[in-house]
Amino acid sequence: MTESPLTEPVFDPFAPGFTDDPYPHYAEMREHAPVHRHPFGFWLLTRYEDVSWLLRAGLSVEDRNVAEDNPLREMREATYGDQMPRFDGRSMLDRDPPDHTRLRRLVSKAFTPRALRALRPQVVDLVDGMLDAMARARHVDLIESLAFPLPFAVIAKMLGTPSSDHERIRELTGVVVRSLEPVADPDLVSAIVSADHDLGGIAAEMIAWKRENPADDLLTALINAEDEGDVLDEDELIAQTLLLYIAGHETTVNLIGGGTLALLRDPGRTALLRDDPGLVANAVEEMLRYDSPVQASRRITVEPVTVGGVEIPAGAFVMASLASANRDERFWGPDAGELRLNRENARQHVSFGAGPHHCLGASLARMEAGIVFERMTARFPRLAQDGEVRWNGRINLRGPSYLPVSTG
Ligand code: HEM
Repeated sequence: MTESPLTEPVFDPFAPGFTDDPYPHYAEMREHAPVHRHPFGFWLLTRYEDVSWLLRAGLSVEDRNVAEDNPLREMREATYGDQMPRFDGRSMLDRDPPDHTRLRRLVSKAFTPRALRALRPQVVDLVDGMLDAMARARHVDLIESLAFPLPFAVIAKMLGTPSSDHERIRELTGVVVRSLEPVADPDLVSAIVSADHDLGGIAAEMIAWKRENPADDLLTALINAEDEGDVLDEDELIAQTLLLYIAGHETTVNLIGGGTLALLRDPGRTALLRDDPGLVANAVEEMLRYDSPVQASRRITVEPVTVGGVEIPAGAFVMASLASANRDERFWGPDAGELRLNRENARQHVSFGAGPHHCLGASLARMEAGIVFERMTARFPRLAQDGEVRWNGRINLRGPSYLPVSTG
């Protein structure tokens, strides 16, 4: 039974230590306030059953459906005014049908299993090159040496971005991605708005260049994507390009970094993967479950809904904690807080979301992580953590920002 609001714990992602380890707080929310109305006017769901329902329920993702008097709406407007980040609101992530259906269909056309298969040998080469450099250095930061540069190189290659732009794009996406977090610091807000403006400019230039110089890459495919006479207009192209850039690397870095950290906490696990590479695919699912690279998704109710016995009114902003659902003992059993590489139902995690917005890059992320964990454990059987991990301080796209390792 849900406790009375007066005794409910209040979700506080700004509490000290939260971004280093949010799980005890989520466990408390699951237990005492599974359908939680935050004083700032949003709702938070933390149980697997409720989160899983919300993602599949076909609710809205468009901010315009948030009730006029919702404090969150006012706060967001006060933060960004009319300078909403460019991919915010225009990418498929923030659109309902029919726009969502149309955008997703157009982008999926360029995102085929065949394109992924063709990419695989290049990802293997990239990983091997990074592992070679790690072997030479012996003591490295895993994030800087592999977890970050790999997914960035892959998405940049897929999109067909000239390498002269990489450094700048990397820098700018690192700032723009913060718009997916709750932000209160005015300096950060202006940094986001300015980085977003610059990034949009770079994307527009790239698109203009690709129109003149089409090639066998994702950006050219997006420009040419056509469905029953329908194409992406310029703004939509820019928004989907930025979404792919950001979703393509700012998430997978957390899977590779967080997965490696979880693996190294028990040295026996590296040996397990090295001796049985057939286990890698399931291990990656379990890593996704154990530490969600994207910790939350959100939906907006357009009519009242009842979740876990509680009625949520129309126009509400509802956060679904993927991270908490993935640790819910009610679904996973008493060992939900442990990493078990051979967990049978690991693939039922909600780390890629579910329903209409299920991650379009899930197969790509799985492929990248699978190659990393297979080749890294084979190459460095004595890989070990070599100092304190540092977390990136983010509430949503959370993961290690520094993970010192020795290759053994
Ligand atoms: C959507 C997670 C990698 C592209 C999503 C969503 C989640 C997610 C949770 C759904 C958000 C929602 O329900 O509102 C992840 C994780 C990744 C990853 C954990 C890596 C470990 C990627 C990659 C790409 C990508 C590599 C592309 C290169 C997308 C796109 C969407 C999406 C385009 C929007 C789908 C839609 O709105 O229909 N991702 N993602 N993601 N992801 Fe990923």
